[in-house]
Amino acid sequence: MTPVGVLVSGRGSNLAALIDRTRLPACPFTITCVLSDNPAAGALTLARDAGIPAFVHEKLPGQKKREFERELVERLRAHGVRVVALAGFMRILGETLLSAFPGRVLNIHPSLLPAFPGLHAQEQAHAAGVRYAGCTVHLVDAGTDTGPILDQACFRVPEGLTPEALSRRILEHEHRLYPETLARFCRRELALVEGRVRTWLPPAPLRPVWEVFSATHFAREAPPDPVPGRGHVAVSACLCGFPCRYDGEGRFLPRLIDGLTQADVLPVCPEVLAGLGVPRPRIQFDDAPGPASDQAPVIRDEHGVEVTAGLLAAVDRVADWCVEQGVRFAFLKENSPSCGTLRVPCRGQRVPGPGPLASRLAKVGVRVFTEEDFDLGLIALGTSWTPTAEGRGQTPSRERGKDENSL
Ligand code: GRF
Repeated sequence: MTPVGVLVSGRGSNLAALIDRTRLPACPFTITCVLSDNPAAGALTLARDAGIPAFVHEKLPGQKKREFERELVERLRAHGVRVVALAGFMRILGETLLSAFPGRVLNIHPSLLPAFPGLHAQEQAHAAGVRYAGCTVHLVDAGTDTGPILDQACFRVPEGLTPEALSRRILEHEHRLYPETLARFCRRELALVEGRVRTWLPPAPLRPVWEVFSATHFAREAPPDPVPGRGHVAVSACLCGFPCRYDGEGRFLPRLIDGLTQADVLPVCPEVLAGLGVPRPRIQFDDAPGPASDQAPVIRDEHGVEVTAGLLAAVDRVADWCVEQGVRFAFLKENSPSCGTLRVPCRGQRVPGPGPLASRLAKVGVRVFTEEDFDLGLIALGTSWTPTAEGRGQTPSRERGKDENSL
Protein backbone atom coordinates (compact mmCIF):
# COMPACT_ATOMS: atom_id res chain seq x y z
CA MET A 1 0.00 0.00 0.00
CA THR A 2 1.69 3.19 -1.15
CA PRO A 3 1.29 6.23 1.13
CA VAL A 4 0.35 9.23 -1.01
CA GLY A 5 0.42 12.90 -0.01
CA VAL A 6 -1.88 15.20 -1.99
CA LEU A 7 -1.04 18.88 -2.57
CA VAL A 8 -3.97 21.18 -3.31
CA SER A 9 -4.85 24.86 -3.63
CA GLY A 10 -8.55 24.91 -4.53
CA ARG A 11 -11.92 23.17 -4.48
CA GLY A 12 -10.51 19.62 -4.50
CA SER A 13 -12.76 17.73 -6.90
CA ASN A 14 -9.79 15.62 -8.02
CA LEU A 15 -8.88 15.01 -4.39
CA ALA A 16 -12.45 13.74 -3.87
CA ALA A 17 -12.03 11.34 -6.79
CA LEU A 18 -8.75 10.04 -5.32
CA ILE A 19 -10.36 9.58 -1.91
CA ASP A 20 -13.24 7.65 -3.53
CA ARG A 21 -10.71 5.38 -5.22
CA THR A 22 -9.12 4.49 -1.87
CA ARG A 23 -12.51 3.17 -0.75
CA LEU A 24 -12.64 0.59 -3.52
CA PRO A 25 -11.28 -2.88 -2.85
CA ALA A 26 -7.64 -3.55 -3.63
CA CYS A 27 -6.67 0.09 -3.93
CA PRO A 28 -2.86 0.11 -3.99
CA PHE A 29 -2.55 3.54 -2.38
CA THR A 30 -3.70 5.32 0.72
CA ILE A 31 -3.83 9.09 1.25
CA THR A 32 -1.93 9.87 4.43
CA CYS A 33 -2.10 13.67 4.29
CA VAL A 34 -3.37 16.65 2.32
CA LEU A 35 -1.45 19.92 2.26
CA SER A 36 -2.76 23.20 0.90
CA ASP A 37 -0.90 26.45 0.28
CA ASN A 38 -4.26 28.20 0.43
CA PRO A 39 -6.07 28.36 3.80
CA ALA A 40 -9.41 28.88 2.03
CA ALA A 41 -9.15 25.75 -0.15
CA GLY A 42 -12.34 23.69 -0.12
CA ALA A 43 -10.11 20.64 -0.50
CA LEU A 44 -9.07 20.97 3.15
CA THR A 45 -12.64 20.49 4.36
CA LEU A 46 -13.11 17.59 1.99
CA ALA A 47 -10.02 15.87 3.38
CA ARG A 48 -10.95 16.45 7.00
CA ASP A 49 -14.47 15.17 6.40
CA ALA A 50 -12.87 12.00 5.07
CA GLY A 51 -10.73 11.71 8.20
CA ILE A 52 -7.47 12.53 6.40
CA PRO A 53 -4.96 14.79 8.17
CA ALA A 54 -5.08 18.10 6.30
CA PHE A 55 -2.81 21.10 6.83
CA VAL A 56 -2.32 24.60 5.55
CA HIS A 57 1.21 25.14 4.37
CA GLU A 58 1.44 28.74 3.22
CA LYS A 59 4.42 30.38 1.61
CA LEU A 60 5.30 33.22 3.94
CA PRO A 61 6.04 36.65 2.46
CA GLY A 62 9.72 36.84 1.60
CA GLN A 63 10.22 33.13 2.27
CA LYS A 64 12.60 31.44 -0.16
CA LYS A 65 11.04 28.75 -2.35
CA ARG A 66 13.73 26.36 -1.14
CA GLU A 67 12.76 26.91 2.49
CA PHE A 68 9.03 26.60 1.74
CA GLU A 69 9.61 23.30 -0.03
CA ARG A 70 12.01 21.98 2.62
CA GLU A 71 9.25 22.35 5.22
CA LEU A 72 6.75 20.81 2.83
CA VAL A 73 9.03 17.80 2.37
CA GLU A 74 9.38 17.45 6.14
CA ARG A 75 5.63 17.37 6.58
CA LEU A 76 5.14 14.89 3.77
CA ARG A 77 7.83 12.63 5.20
CA ALA A 78 6.35 12.91 8.68
CA HIS A 79 3.27 11.29 7.14
CA GLY A 80 5.28 8.51 5.52
CA VAL A 81 4.55 9.82 2.01
CA ARG A 82 6.23 7.94 -0.85
CA VAL A 83 4.31 9.40 -3.78
CA VAL A 84 3.09 12.99 -4.12
CA ALA A 85 -0.04 13.76 -6.15
CA LEU A 86 -0.70 17.35 -7.18
CA ALA A 87 -4.41 18.01 -7.49
CA GLY A 88 -4.87 21.63 -8.45
CA PHE A 89 -1.72 22.78 -6.64
CA MET A 90 -1.01 26.22 -8.06
CA ARG A 91 2.77 26.35 -7.70
CA ILE A 92 5.67 25.33 -9.87
CA LEU A 93 7.73 22.89 -7.86
CA GLY A 94 11.46 23.30 -7.48
CA GLU A 95 14.45 21.09 -7.00
CA THR A 96 14.02 20.74 -3.22
CA LEU A 97 10.72 18.92 -3.43
CA LEU A 98 11.37 17.11 -6.69
CA SER A 99 14.68 15.67 -5.54
CA ALA A 100 13.07 14.48 -2.31
CA PHE A 101 10.57 12.38 -4.31
CA PRO A 102 12.46 11.61 -7.52
CA GLY A 103 10.16 10.41 -10.29
CA ARG A 104 7.36 10.15 -7.77
CA VAL A 105 5.43 13.42 -8.12
CA LEU A 106 2.32 13.24 -10.32
CA ASN A 107 0.10 15.99 -11.67
CA ILE A 108 -3.20 16.17 -13.53
CA HIS A 109 -3.48 18.82 -16.23
CA PRO A 110 -6.72 19.76 -18.05
CA SER A 111 -5.42 19.47 -21.62
CA LEU A 112 -3.87 16.96 -23.96
CA LEU A 113 -0.26 17.89 -23.28
CA PRO A 114 2.00 19.08 -24.78
CA ALA A 115 -0.82 21.31 -26.08
CA PHE A 116 -1.94 24.12 -23.78
CA PRO A 117 0.39 23.92 -20.78
CA GLY A 118 0.10 26.43 -17.95
CA LEU A 119 -2.93 28.30 -16.72
CA HIS A 120 -6.44 28.29 -18.23
CA ALA A 121 -5.79 25.29 -20.43
CA GLN A 122 -9.50 24.71 -21.06
CA GLU A 123 -9.99 28.28 -22.28
CA GLN A 124 -6.89 27.98 -24.45
CA ALA A 125 -8.29 24.79 -25.98
CA HIS A 126 -11.69 26.37 -26.58
CA ALA A 127 -10.15 29.46 -28.16
CA ALA A 128 -8.11 27.24 -30.47
CA GLY A 129 -11.29 25.47 -31.59
CA VAL A 130 -9.93 22.00 -30.86
CA ARG A 131 -11.99 19.04 -32.12
CA TYR A 132 -10.56 16.77 -29.44
CA ALA A 133 -9.97 17.76 -25.85
CA GLY A 134 -8.94 15.89 -22.73
CA CYS A 135 -6.59 15.71 -19.81
CA THR A 136 -3.16 14.35 -18.95
CA VAL A 137 -1.56 12.76 -15.92
CA HIS A 138 2.17 13.28 -15.99
CA LEU A 139 5.23 13.08 -13.81
CA VAL A 140 6.36 16.47 -12.64
CA ASP A 141 9.71 17.92 -13.62
CA ALA A 142 11.12 21.42 -13.20
CA GLY A 143 9.19 22.81 -16.20
CA THR A 144 5.56 23.86 -16.48
CA ASP A 145 3.54 20.73 -17.38
CA THR A 146 6.50 19.29 -19.27
CA GLY A 147 7.19 16.04 -17.40
CA PRO A 148 6.84 12.54 -18.90
CA ILE A 149 3.23 11.69 -19.75
CA LEU A 150 1.79 8.77 -17.80
CA ASP A 151 -1.65 8.64 -19.41
CA GLN A 152 -4.29 10.72 -21.15
CA ALA A 153 -8.02 10.70 -21.73
CA CYS A 154 -9.66 12.43 -24.68
CA PHE A 155 -13.05 13.00 -26.27
CA ARG A 156 -14.47 14.62 -29.39
CA VAL A 157 -15.69 18.15 -28.74
CA PRO A 158 -19.29 18.57 -29.87
CA GLU A 159 -20.09 21.60 -32.07
CA GLY A 160 -20.97 24.74 -30.14
CA LEU A 161 -19.78 23.55 -26.72
CA THR A 162 -19.36 26.55 -24.43
CA PRO A 163 -16.07 27.06 -22.58
CA GLU A 164 -17.82 26.22 -19.29
CA ALA A 165 -19.29 23.01 -20.69
CA LEU A 166 -15.91 22.06 -22.14
CA SER A 167 -14.28 22.56 -18.71
CA ARG A 168 -16.95 20.37 -17.10
CA ARG A 169 -16.45 17.61 -19.65
CA ILE A 170 -12.68 17.71 -19.15
CA LEU A 171 -13.12 17.60 -15.39
CA GLU A 172 -15.31 14.49 -15.63
CA HIS A 173 -12.50 12.79 -17.53
CA GLU A 174 -9.95 13.96 -14.97
CA HIS A 175 -11.92 12.32 -12.18
CA ARG A 176 -11.73 8.96 -13.95
CA LEU A 177 -8.20 9.23 -15.27
CA TYR A 178 -6.31 10.44 -12.20
CA PRO A 179 -7.32 7.76 -9.68
CA GLU A 180 -6.74 4.95 -12.19
CA THR A 181 -3.37 6.29 -13.32
CA LEU A 182 -2.23 6.78 -9.75
CA ALA A 183 -3.33 3.23 -8.96
CA ARG A 184 -1.41 1.86 -11.95
CA PHE A 185 1.61 3.90 -10.98
CA CYS A 186 1.48 2.53 -7.43
CA ARG A 187 1.12 -1.00 -8.79
CA ARG A 188 4.29 -0.27 -10.77
CA GLU A 189 2.60 -0.87 -14.07
CA LEU A 190 3.93 2.46 -15.28
CA ALA A 191 7.65 2.88 -14.98
CA LEU A 192 10.05 5.59 -16.04
CA VAL A 193 12.79 4.02 -18.10
CA GLU A 194 15.50 6.31 -19.42
CA GLY A 195 13.28 9.38 -19.20
CA ARG A 196 10.28 7.81 -20.93
CA VAL A 197 7.25 6.24 -19.38
CA ARG A 198 6.92 2.59 -20.16
CA THR A 199 3.65 0.80 -19.61
CA TRP A 200 4.95 -2.28 -18.03
CA LEU A 201 3.41 -5.57 -18.88
CA PRO A 202 5.17 -8.78 -18.21
CA PRO A 203 6.14 -10.92 -21.17
CA ALA A 204 3.16 -13.07 -22.17
CA PRO A 205 4.38 -16.31 -20.57
CA LEU A 206 4.77 -14.50 -17.29
CA ARG A 207 1.33 -12.88 -17.10
CA PRO A 208 -0.03 -15.57 -14.79
CA VAL A 209 2.93 -15.03 -12.49
CA TRP A 210 2.24 -11.30 -12.55
CA GLU A 211 -1.37 -11.99 -11.60
CA VAL A 212 -0.19 -13.96 -8.58
CA PHE A 213 2.20 -11.21 -7.60
CA SER A 214 -0.46 -8.50 -7.95
CA ALA A 215 -2.97 -10.46 -5.96
CA THR A 216 -0.68 -11.46 -3.12
CA HIS A 217 1.31 -8.27 -2.81
CA PHE A 218 -1.11 -5.51 -3.77
CA ALA A 219 -4.51 -6.94 -3.01
CA ARG A 220 -3.03 -9.19 -0.31
CA GLU A 221 -4.89 -12.31 -1.19
CA ALA A 222 -3.67 -15.76 -0.32
CA PRO A 223 -1.40 -17.29 -2.93
CA PRO A 224 -2.91 -19.94 -5.16
CA ASP A 225 -2.60 -23.61 -4.39
CA PRO A 226 0.83 -24.97 -5.15
CA VAL A 227 1.45 -27.60 -7.76
CA PRO A 228 0.40 -30.86 -6.07
CA GLY A 229 3.25 -32.77 -4.59
CA ARG A 230 5.81 -30.16 -5.43
CA GLY A 231 5.06 -26.83 -3.80
CA HIS A 232 6.11 -23.47 -5.10
CA VAL A 233 9.57 -22.15 -5.66
CA ALA A 234 9.93 -18.68 -4.18
CA VAL A 235 11.54 -16.23 -6.61
CA SER A 236 12.34 -12.54 -5.96
CA ALA A 237 9.85 -10.49 -7.94
CA CYS A 238 12.68 -8.45 -9.43
CA LEU A 239 14.16 -11.61 -10.87
CA CYS A 240 10.84 -12.28 -12.55
CA GLY A 241 11.26 -8.96 -14.37
CA PHE A 242 8.83 -6.92 -12.32
CA PRO A 243 9.75 -3.22 -12.32
CA CYS A 244 12.19 -2.56 -9.59
CA ARG A 245 15.31 -0.61 -9.06
CA TYR A 246 17.53 -3.65 -9.13
CA ASP A 247 16.65 -5.57 -12.20
CA GLY A 248 13.50 -4.37 -13.90
CA GLU A 249 14.57 -6.05 -17.10
CA GLY A 250 14.39 -9.51 -15.64
CA ARG A 251 17.79 -10.32 -17.05
CA PHE A 252 17.98 -13.54 -15.16
CA LEU A 253 14.56 -14.75 -16.00
CA PRO A 254 15.37 -16.76 -19.11
CA ARG A 255 17.83 -18.84 -17.15
CA LEU A 256 15.42 -19.32 -14.32
CA ILE A 257 12.36 -20.02 -16.37
CA ASP A 258 14.33 -22.58 -18.24
CA GLY A 259 14.42 -24.61 -15.06
CA LEU A 260 11.01 -23.69 -13.69
CA THR A 261 7.46 -23.43 -14.93
CA GLN A 262 5.03 -20.61 -14.26
CA ALA A 263 3.09 -22.77 -11.89
CA ASP A 264 6.16 -23.34 -9.77
CA VAL A 265 6.94 -19.67 -9.24
CA LEU A 266 5.73 -17.80 -6.19
CA PRO A 267 7.06 -14.28 -6.77
CA VAL A 268 7.95 -12.58 -3.50
CA CYS A 269 9.02 -9.07 -2.56
CA PRO A 270 8.89 -7.92 1.04
CA GLU A 271 9.60 -4.34 0.00
CA VAL A 272 6.52 -4.16 -2.19
CA LEU A 273 4.52 -5.88 0.50
CA ALA A 274 5.74 -3.34 3.06
CA GLY A 275 4.50 -0.58 0.74
CA LEU A 276 7.87 1.08 0.42
CA GLY A 277 6.94 3.09 -2.62
CA VAL A 278 7.48 3.51 -6.29
CA PRO A 279 10.14 2.97 -7.38
CA ARG A 280 11.16 1.17 -4.31
CA PRO A 281 13.74 3.00 -2.21
CA ARG A 282 17.34 2.14 -1.68
CA ILE A 283 17.53 0.45 1.64
CA GLN A 284 20.48 0.50 3.94
CA PHE A 285 21.41 -1.38 7.03
CA ASP A 286 22.86 0.49 9.96
CA ASP A 287 24.29 -2.69 11.39
CA ALA A 288 25.73 -5.67 9.65
CA PRO A 289 23.22 -8.51 9.72
CA GLY A 290 25.89 -11.16 9.51
CA PRO A 291 24.99 -14.82 9.61
CA ALA A 292 26.18 -15.09 13.18
CA SER A 293 24.02 -12.20 14.34
CA ASP A 294 20.47 -12.80 15.44
CA GLN A 295 20.02 -9.12 16.11
CA ALA A 296 17.56 -7.37 13.86
CA PRO A 297 19.40 -4.77 11.79
CA VAL A 298 18.20 -1.19 11.63
CA ILE A 299 17.05 -0.60 8.05
CA ARG A 300 16.51 2.83 6.55
CA ASP A 301 15.34 4.06 3.21
CA GLU A 302 17.24 6.56 1.12
CA HIS A 303 15.77 9.46 3.08
CA GLY A 304 17.04 8.06 6.34
CA VAL A 305 13.53 7.07 7.44
CA GLU A 306 13.61 3.90 9.46
CA VAL A 307 11.60 1.15 7.82
CA THR A 308 12.79 -1.79 9.89
CA ALA A 309 9.52 -2.78 11.49
CA GLY A 310 7.39 -2.74 8.34
CA LEU A 311 10.01 -4.48 6.29
CA LEU A 312 10.73 -7.23 8.80
CA ALA A 313 7.00 -7.80 9.28
CA ALA A 314 6.72 -8.23 5.52
CA VAL A 315 9.72 -10.57 5.52
CA ASP A 316 7.97 -12.68 8.17
CA ARG A 317 4.83 -12.72 6.11
CA VAL A 318 6.65 -13.83 3.00
CA ALA A 319 8.48 -16.51 4.98
CA ASP A 320 5.19 -17.74 6.49
CA TRP A 321 3.71 -18.08 3.01
CA CYS A 322 6.72 -20.02 1.93
CA VAL A 323 6.25 -22.45 4.79
CA GLU A 324 2.51 -22.75 4.07
CA GLN A 325 3.26 -23.42 0.41
CA GLY A 326 5.85 -26.05 1.18
CA VAL A 327 8.56 -23.97 -0.46
CA ARG A 328 11.93 -25.67 -0.22
CA PHE A 329 13.86 -23.52 -2.67
CA ALA A 330 14.15 -19.78 -3.07
CA PHE A 331 15.90 -17.77 -5.78
CA LEU A 332 16.63 -14.34 -4.38
CA LYS A 333 18.29 -11.25 -5.71
CA GLU A 334 21.82 -10.71 -4.59
CA ASN A 335 22.58 -7.40 -2.89
CA SER A 336 18.94 -6.73 -2.28
CA PRO A 337 18.78 -6.29 1.45
CA SER A 338 15.34 -7.51 2.25
CA CYS A 339 15.14 -10.27 -0.32
CA GLY A 340 18.60 -11.61 -0.30
CA THR A 341 21.35 -12.66 0.19
CA LEU A 342 25.01 -13.10 0.27
CA ARG A 343 26.28 -9.56 0.44
CA VAL A 344 24.36 -6.60 1.73
CA PRO A 345 25.21 -2.90 1.65
CA CYS A 346 26.08 -1.70 5.11
CA ARG A 347 27.56 1.68 5.99
CA GLY A 348 28.51 2.12 2.37
CA GLN A 349 30.29 -1.24 2.16
CA ARG A 350 29.33 -4.69 1.09
CA VAL A 351 29.46 -7.11 3.96
CA PRO A 352 29.06 -10.83 3.70
CA GLY A 353 25.94 -12.33 5.15
CA PRO A 354 22.38 -13.08 4.20
CA GLY A 355 19.71 -10.40 4.26
CA PRO A 356 16.66 -10.78 6.49
CA LEU A 357 14.58 -12.88 4.12
CA ALA A 358 17.44 -15.20 3.29
CA SER A 359 18.16 -15.70 7.02
CA ARG A 360 14.53 -16.22 7.81
CA LEU A 361 14.04 -18.75 5.04
CA ALA A 362 17.21 -20.62 5.94
CA LYS A 363 15.88 -21.02 9.48
CA VAL A 364 12.81 -22.83 8.19
CA GLY A 365 14.90 -25.13 6.00
CA VAL A 366 14.50 -23.37 2.64
CA ARG A 367 17.59 -23.48 0.41
CA VAL A 368 18.39 -20.02 -0.89
CA PHE A 369 20.19 -19.34 -4.18
CA THR A 370 21.14 -16.08 -5.85
CA GLU A 371 22.13 -15.23 -9.38
CA GLU A 372 25.65 -16.29 -8.45
CA ASP A 373 24.59 -19.86 -7.99
CA PHE A 374 21.35 -20.23 -9.94
CA ASP A 375 22.75 -23.17 -11.80
CA LEU A 376 23.41 -24.90 -8.56
CA GLY A 377 19.85 -24.15 -7.51
CA LEU A 378 18.40 -25.49 -10.70
CA ILE A 379 20.48 -28.61 -10.33
CA ALA A 380 19.22 -29.00 -6.79
CA LEU A 381 15.65 -28.58 -8.02
CA GLY A 382 16.21 -31.03 -10.80
CA THR A 383 17.38 -33.69 -8.47
CA SER A 384 14.81 -33.07 -5.76
CA TRP A 385 11.55 -32.84 -7.60
CA THR A 386 9.23 -35.67 -8.24
CA PRO A 387 8.36 -35.52 -11.95
CA THR A 388 4.72 -34.63 -12.60
CA ALA A 389 2.28 -36.83 -14.47
CA GLU A 390 2.42 -34.43 -17.45
CA GLY A 391 6.15 -35.05 -17.55
CA ARG A 392 7.96 -31.77 -17.81
CA GLY A 393 10.79 -31.56 -20.29
CA GLN A 394 14.20 -32.02 -18.79
CA THR A 395 16.16 -28.81 -19.05
CA PRO A 396 19.89 -28.92 -19.70
CA SER A 397 20.55 -27.80 -16.15
CA ARG A 398 18.37 -30.57 -14.79
CA GLU A 399 20.15 -33.05 -16.95
CA ARG A 400 23.42 -31.79 -15.62
CA GLY A 401 22.02 -32.19 -12.13
CA LYS A 402 21.99 -35.93 -12.60
CA ASP A 403 25.73 -35.91 -12.92
CA GLU A 404 26.33 -33.43 -10.18
CA ASN A 405 24.18 -34.88 -7.47
CA SER A 406 26.84 -34.37 -4.90
CA LEU A 407 26.71 -30.57 -5.24
C1 GRF B 1 -8.08 20.68 -12.42
O1 GRF B 1 -8.64 21.18 -13.60
C2 GRF B 1 -6.74 20.12 -12.67
O2 GRF B 1 -6.60 19.55 -13.93
C3 GRF B 1 -5.84 21.33 -12.56
O3 GRF B 1 -6.39 22.07 -11.51
C4 GRF B 1 -7.78 21.79 -11.43
C5 GRF B 1 -8.05 21.37 -10.01
O4 GRF B 1 -9.42 21.21 -9.76
N1 GRF B 1 -4.47 20.94 -12.33
P1 GRF B 1 -9.90 20.54 -8.40
O5 GRF B 1 -9.39 21.42 -7.27
O6 GRF B 1 -9.32 19.17 -8.33
O7 GRF B 1 -11.39 20.52 -8.47
